[in-house]
Amino acid sequence: SGTTATQPTPADLPLFPFPEPVAHPLDPPAYRDLLSGEAPITRVALPTGGWAWLVTRLAEVREVLRHPAFSADIAKPGFPLLRPLPRPRDRDRAGLFIRMDPPEHGRYRRMLTPEFMIKSIRRLEPLIQQTVDRFLDDMVAAGPPADLVDAYALPVPSLVICHLLGVPYEDHCFFQSRSRVLLNSSVSVEEAQGAADELRDYLSRLVTAKQRDGGDDLLARLVAGRLRGGALTHDEAVGMAVLLLVAGHETTANMIGLSTLVLLRHPDQYAALRDDPGRAPALVEELLRYLTIVRTGLPRLALADVEIGGTRIRAGEGVIALLSVANRDEGAFADADRFDVDRGAHQHVAFGFGVHQCIGQPLARAELRIALVALAERLPALRLAIPDDEVPLRRDSFIYGLQRLPVTW
Ligand code: HEM
Repeated sequence: SGTTATQPTPADLPLFPFPEPVAHPLDPPAYRDLLSGEAPITRVALPTGGWAWLVTRLAEVREVLRHPAFSADIAKPGFPLLRPLPRPRDRDRAGLFIRMDPPEHGRYRRMLTPEFMIKSIRRLEPLIQQTVDRFLDDMVAAGPPADLVDAYALPVPSLVICHLLGVPYEDHCFFQSRSRVLLNSSVSVEEAQGAADELRDYLSRLVTAKQRDGGDDLLARLVAGRLRGGALTHDEAVGMAVLLLVAGHETTANMIGLSTLVLLRHPDQYAALRDDPGRAPALVEELLRYLTIVRTGLPRLALADVEIGGTRIRAGEGVIALLSVANRDEGAFADADRFDVDRGAHQHVAFGFGVHQCIGQPLARAELRIALVALAERLPALRLAIPDDEVPLRRDSFIYGLQRLPVTW
């Protein structure tokens, strides 16, 4: 049987450092410095006062994320938090299935499964291509130089998710800024709550309008199919819409920006992508592994005693499945710090694992592939417009990404 926790007080434990102390956006995850020796699991103090187990090897990360004893419900007492929670209100929780456990979780997720199947996403590809071309046209007409985050990485997934959900793109400044507040670690509880309230109010009005007017988009279909039939309440539909809108643009935007920075460091790969766009799927998988933008990992609460990697985890204890370090596990990825498109990175956990594994991954993959191929074809001479060591990271976000990416061509 496994070792049980000796009981140092949280004050003796290393603090899970947030923001992550890295010098350059493409540095390996600094979190692995928290590991003592060969231990795949170690205890860390959390910025909110408690402590949690840090799980860092690929096999154990998968084990935690697929194990039914681990809950994703942040409202449960003892849940490991990196930021204090506002006082939970029922309205705030409705429809947010990313924080729910089975069987409740599955009821919501299944309503969306058909929308995100590969064949549904394939039908969106012409729109993604048009979107990419449109923002590249604008960027080329206005530049050089340009901020690739502002001109390309952020608007492309924002417009695509607007189109899919049926959210007016002209409101992008509103929902982008509120999403950023939600994902920001240094804002106050009140500010985070305010941003969540504003997003809910906005999408509540939109859901009401879809109920009245119908439409040919995901939210209109959800309203027509489920809300009308009584399977879903208004607040639940609104919560699902908030989740999809926030998760659907910010993540992919950060991936496009960081991926471009990686490609500028590997000009051979950038040129190869232009010469053979068939390389894009393998490139995208390796970028997902290498960048792992959900850098702070996935927190879970043990609801029963479980043994993970030889360590006994007790009911009521928190765990953080550290995706970024698991995706650099030498046992799973040889020479893991090397960016290697040909390694076959498909077993990475950048989209998580288990019941909550990212529902948007076919969409994210299609957007990344199309956006990066178009960039390589259109701007073969793309280069940084500032020194490489001055590219600014967004330091205070739960999602790893660049503030700006000044480029020229
Ligand atoms: C869940 C990453 C893009 C919607 C997740 C999870 C991860 C993740 C790690 C698991 C969270 C957990 O287990 O607690 C990413 C990355 C993306 C991306 C790296 C871009 C490269 C998207 C897109 C959408 C989306 C484009 C929507 C259109 C969701 C939703 C969930 C989720 C709704 C919750 C699923 C559930 O709880 O069943 N994502 N995501 N994501 N993602 Fe993504």
